[in-house]
Amino acid sequence: MAADDLTRRKFIIDTDAGIDDAQAILMCLAASDVEVVALTTVKGNATAAQVTSNLLRLLKAADRLEIPIYRGCEDMLLGWEKPDEYNYHGKDGFGDVPDPDPPSRDRIQAKHAVQALIDITKQYPGEISLVALGPLTNISMAIRMDNQFGSRLKDCFIMGGNYKGEGNVTPSGEFNFYSDPEAAYIVLNSLGCPITLTCWELCLDCFFPWKVHEELRSFPSAKCELMKTLELAIVAECKKEYREYEMADEMAMACALDNDVITKSHDVYATVELHGHMTRGQMVVDWRKVLARKPNVRLVVEMDKVMLKKMLLKAFED
Ligand code: BDR
Ligand code: CA
Repeated sequence: MAADDLTRRKFIIDTDAGIDDAQAILMCLAASDVEVVALTTVKGNATAAQVTSNLLRLLKAADRLEIPIYRGCEDMLLGWEKPDEYNYHGKDGFGDVPDPDPPSRDRIQAKHAVQALIDITKQYPGEISLVALGPLTNISMAIRMDNQFGSRLKDCFIMGGNYKGEGNVTPSGEFNFYSDPEAAYIVLNSLGCPITLTCWELCLDCFFPWKVHEELRSFPSAKCELMKTLELAIVAECKKEYREYEMADEMAMACALDNDVITKSHDVYATVELHGHMTRGQMVVDWRKVLARKPNVRLVVEMDKVMLKKMLLKAFED
């Protein structure tokens, strides 16, 4: 084993890639002190099978095809289907621009993602930082299959939920939590390691002007070209509607890479509404400690945008 492997922090990224997932993963791959031990896929922006292909495409552009990819859950705990009208990342999650030269699917690991999550945390107890960028189906399944799973993690960083009731797929539902509310409920209430949460409202507060986006896409690399290709439709739509380019998964990844990027957070008890007619999947924060429960998440409400921009640039500069 190389000396590097002994000192680098170990990450698993659970993802439904997703264009913002792709950018978040590139941020992580650019961090020289981090080893990505595995990528696990879950249904969300596209089927888990499609997300797995998307990751092969991304790793090829980043010249990192050696990183193992495990395919995960193809159904939410209660079998929710994505509404047709929600196709922000395209039907295939990657902007519906076919891969002209896809890497062989032989590279995909035979083991299921949930089993991989369990096994890798047994191999490296207390060492793994789990970064969750999609619906929490795989992670909730790992908890249910092995109730010690979470206690073997070092920590967990999640993009999902909302803390002011603002949704992006329903009036009150953020996509990752709304997609699999039961999974989000299980993870928040029973994971058993420190959880850092970046919610949808933080993404709304942390956008960059278009000129920063153009700077990010100005590098002559295969990964930059890939990102430009994938986001053609999103960029056109945002510009047509005079909207900024919204990021999401990048926030959770930034917190996982460097805690100093967090400038304001609250330790709170947060859970997920499962039964509401209008509010299913909405995150509920017990700000006033009415439930007298111990805090279960560190809720990030402000980030250092200068640092965040540096991390994003680093993903493409190399
Ligand atoms: C989340 O939903 C997905 O579409 C994005 O990839 C991100 O993880 C934002 O709500
Ligand atoms: Ca995602």
